[in-house]
Amino acid sequence: MDGKWRCHWAWSFTLWCVLVYTISEFSGKSVVLATEKNSMHHKQERKLHDVSGSICIDCGIPEKATYTDEKTQIPYTSDALFIDTGTSKNISLKLTSEIPQRIFTTVRSFPEEKRNCYKLQHPERRDTIYLIRASFMYGNYDDLNKLPLFDLYVGVNFWDTVMFDNATHVVIKEILHVPSLDDIYICLLNTDKGTPFISALEMRHLDHDSYRTNSALLSLYRRFDIGSITNEIVRFEEDAYDRIWYPYNLPDSTPISTSNTIDSVDHTAYHLPPEAMKTAVRPTNENGSLEFEFDTEHPTSDSYVYLHFAEIEKLKENESRVFDITLNGKILSESVTPKYLQSTTIESAQAIRGSKLKFSIHKKPSSTHPPILNAMEIYVVKEFLHSPTDQEDVKAITDIKSYYKLLSLDKSWRGDPCAPLKYSWNGIKCSNNGYKSPTITALNLASSGLDGPISGSFSQLKFLEFLDLSNNSLTGPLPDFSELQYLKTLNLSGNRLSGEIPPLLLKRSKNGSLMLSVDPDLCRKGPCEKAKKNIVPLVAGILSALLFFIVLGCVLIIIWRRYNRKPASKQGVRSNEEFVLKTNNKQFSYSEIRTITNNFEKTIGKGGYGIVYLGYLKDGTQAAVKMLLSKSPEGSQQFQTEAQLLIRVHHKNLASFLGYCNEVGHTAIIYEYMTNGNLEDYLSDAKREPLSWRQRIQIALDAAQGIEYLHHGCKPPIVHRDIKTANILLNEKLQAKVADFGFSKLFSAENESHVSTIVIGTVGYLDPEYYISSRLTEKSDVYSFGIVLLELITGQPAIIKGHNNTHIVQWVNQFLERGDILQIVDPKMQGDFDFGSMWKALEAAVACVPSISIQRPSMNHIVGELKESLKMEATREKEGINSIEMNVVDLEAGCGPDAR
Ligand SMILES: *[C@@H]1O[C@H](CO)[C@@H](O)[C@H](O)[C@H]1NC(C)=O
Ligand SMILES: *[C@@H]1O[C@H](CO)[C@@H](O)[C@H](O)[C@H]1NC(C)=O
Ligand SMILES: *[C@@H]1O[C@H](CO)[C@@H](O)[C@H](O)[C@H]1NC(C)=O
Ligand SMILES: *[C@@H]1O[C@H](CO)[C@@H](O)[C@H](O)[C@H]1NC(C)=O
Ligand SMILES: *[C@@H]1O[C@H](CO)[C@@H](O)[C@H](O)[C@H]1NC(C)=O
Ligand SMILES: *[C@@H]1O[C@H](CO)[C@@H](O)[C@H](O)[C@H]1NC(C)=O
Ligand SMILES: *[C@@H]1O[C@H](CO)[C@@H](O)[C@H](O)[C@H]1NC(C)=O
Repeated sequence: MDGKWRCHWAWSFTLWCVLVYTISEFSGKSVVLATEKNSMHHKQERKLHDVSGSICIDCGIPEKATYTDEKTQIPYTSDALFIDTGTSKNISLKLTSEIPQRIFTTVRSFPEEKRNCYKLQHPERRDTIYLIRASFMYGNYDDLNKLPLFDLYVGVNFWDTVMFDNATHVVIKEILHVPSLDDIYICLLNTDKGTPFISALEMRHLDHDSYRTNSALLSLYRRFDIGSITNEIVRFEEDAYDRIWYPYNLPDSTPISTSNTIDSVDHTAYHLPPEAMKTAVRPTNENGSLEFEFDTEHPTSDSYVYLHFAEIEKLKENESRVFDITLNGKILSESVTPKYLQSTTIESAQAIRGSKLKFSIHKKPSSTHPPILNAMEIYVVKEFLHSPTDQEDVKAITDIKSYYKLLSLDKSWRGDPCAPLKYSWNGIKCSNNGYKSPTITALNLASSGLDGPISGSFSQLKFLEFLDLSNNSLTGPLPDFSELQYLKTLNLSGNRLSGEIPPLLLKRSKNGSLMLSVDPDLCRKGPCEKAKKNIVPLVAGILSALLFFIVLGCVLIIIWRRYNRKPASKQGVRSNEEFVLKTNNKQFSYSEIRTITNNFEKTIGKGGYGIVYLGYLKDGTQAAVKMLLSKSPEGSQQFQTEAQLLIRVHHKNLASFLGYCNEVGHTAIIYEYMTNGNLEDYLSDAKREPLSWRQRIQIALDAAQGIEYLHHGCKPPIVHRDIKTANILLNEKLQAKVADFGFSKLFSAENESHVSTIVIGTVGYLDPEYYISSRLTEKSDVYSFGIVLLELITGQPAIIKGHNNTHIVQWVNQFLERGDILQIVDPKMQGDFDFGSMWKALEAAVACVPSISIQRPSMNHIVGELKESLKMEATREKEGINSIEMNVVDLEAGCGPDAR
């Protein structure tokens, strides 16, 4: 059935673009589009907006205008239905002769708003891969002759920056995306470097068995029709998915082609265009290989490559074409033999890290024919680090927006309400919920011209702490806002409300948990009697208005709990599951874990969480496999979500998270293997060469930068919670990386609701304030890092065993009080360090460990201090000064770290 559907694809595409065309010719916004007969996916009637398959919009043409592009035969419509900001502009007349396609004659420009979003709706087929393409050509549409530069976002996550070389430079950005929400928002952000604009926006849907959209967003880097003879681009109608294939030739190669068609009987999931597959190249030298390379220019990025092959020469029985493919020296695929006139795609099973992609396709010795290549694609993975706003909050605030017709009132109310935080809607403040979705905590609609009754949707913003609706024309009774249990400020003054103040509100206001501001004459002015009369019949004349509201409140709570909460969370889980299923090539089965660890052969560590084994991934990389104690199935979903998120956190000073296993009874985390083990072992191992001061300060700086990144580079910030020397790993060059970030969160996921009450951490490193209050902040990590720094300086463990099991902070303090720094510093360094550098580090360490968290500096500050300290030590090494003599002098002078 699916195959049949695919065969009809091209036909459906045309049919429905034509339908859009025809209908929008006569349409108002409410036109309902009849179902396509031949597509089993399109059973119900859908509104024009809902049609998912293809959206072909030419931005800036008049509302309701449509046309079919002569070159591509693609029918375009106006973008007016997809956005309500921006203005239409024509490009400069002088340049119209230079445009490659009609879509570039008009643009929509956004001079006013910071963020402008197109809303592309798609139906419930969540597993479909969408191809989204945005096209831009400046064309001096504003007569300013100034090339703008701006950012493009997919929902709340950064996609790319758009920049131009000249006025006729055509920039095309394309992504493959599996949306996790119902609407896809494509947003243009003004970054104060010129006015954003767009020429065209298109969306196609692809077979879900094709590309791996592992992190839900693949950005196109290159797509080539190799060995083209016409030297023209291939797209719709040759490509039913309307991918654009650019002609390209490889070095030292000879084009070959066939006039036969490819995949005439059966398509693969990639549905490759025969026009591109009919041509190929082979090495010019009969015995040579195809060698070529690309540089994606993003050293930390992950890429996926797709190489498409089809045999286009009829080989005799005693002839063969067999070749191997390597990428960056590693085997990508062995003994590939393309089938005659049928396409085969070789893809990278794992993402390839690094900017250089060096391909080699070489023939097997037994092969009589050289290798070929017909077409190829390279995609760069774009990380999704932000979560969109809580969907229930989005629904509520959207309802409020339409209820009061706030559309024209505030143009910032577009796209996601909270994220990215910098661009949250005016009048809205949001929470930072760690990895979870932000929620709306404050809403200020004072003096916004609201009229009519107070919308019930306000009560759906469950995390609201501040609500200001003052100075509007609101009428009707006051709701009791009983659902808003976190509400602390409610300002309803300056309205025309009537009735009594609900007793619950009065009570909360009286006991001080709510700051309530209402018009003083609320009951006198408003016809209290009338309000009662209206209500009394409803409760059969027995209950007062007061009771009614309480009952109603209770009923609402029950209804809400029963019908709203459950399905909502279930739905959340379901969509998550699907999302995860789609995106989990870093998820391993337990049997794979056994293979990786060679049946748990070598133990390299042990901890409270479980045992760590040495493993080898398929590509030969060494890995540390941490087996966790088994988890319940509920926790497992949370674990999965967290693990998926952690996979996307990358920094040179954070141990890479390579994958995980999440099966009943078997939970494992796989991360980068570090040859020199952890810092704790390294410092205490008497057999090792002692670390020099320079090495120590470098390790401290590395770790500090890793933590700084978690705190300030990740949005929302990540609190590690378990910083200690055992969690700082060293590679062969003694570069330090922080491990197990987010791990404590993973581990405690089962008890998610109690996280705030379970104190996680390790004795000796635990922030005393966190221990007492259970309130977790970044400053807890700062405290723990201070302990690590003290260990590096002193060579002592956090708890110094011996007479009284002294804590390192106490131990250091006793010497600091006497100004006896030489007693503090690890004797293994034999005094070989710059005194100023040591002082600086000690000062930084001491600054980290006050018991009151607000007295501790941020990681940014510490990184700065450590950099200075390192610089001092480096200067000394260069100048070869033995500083010990000077130290003593300094010491006598009585300077000491500012020990607070
Ligand atoms: C763009 O050009 C068309 C005709 O070529 C004209 O009708 C239209 O008004 C122009 N639009 C703007 C915004 O100047
Ligand atoms: C404009 O820039 C593009 C892309 O760099 C280049 O190919 C083209 O030749 C340039 N055109 C002019 C007129 O400079
Ligand atoms: C290719 O290799 C074969 C066998 O080694 C040799 O006979 C032939 O001359 C080579 N062809 C070229 C063009 O080098
Ligand atoms: C394959 O067989 C044909 C005859 O059928 C012969 O002419 C040709 O040389 C053979 N080719 C090779 C590579 O053995
Ligand atoms: C109330 O709103 C009006 C306009 O709606 C405005 O002119 C006035 O300054 C506002 N008053 C206060 C106290 O904010
Ligand atoms: C409530 O709003 C009014 C008008 O905007 C303002 O004057 C008043 O100070 C606010 N009350 C509180 C408690 O913030
Ligand atoms: C005030 O009263 C409300 C409603 O009964 C209650 O939920 C809240 O805990 C009380 N707060 C304080 C500080 O007593």
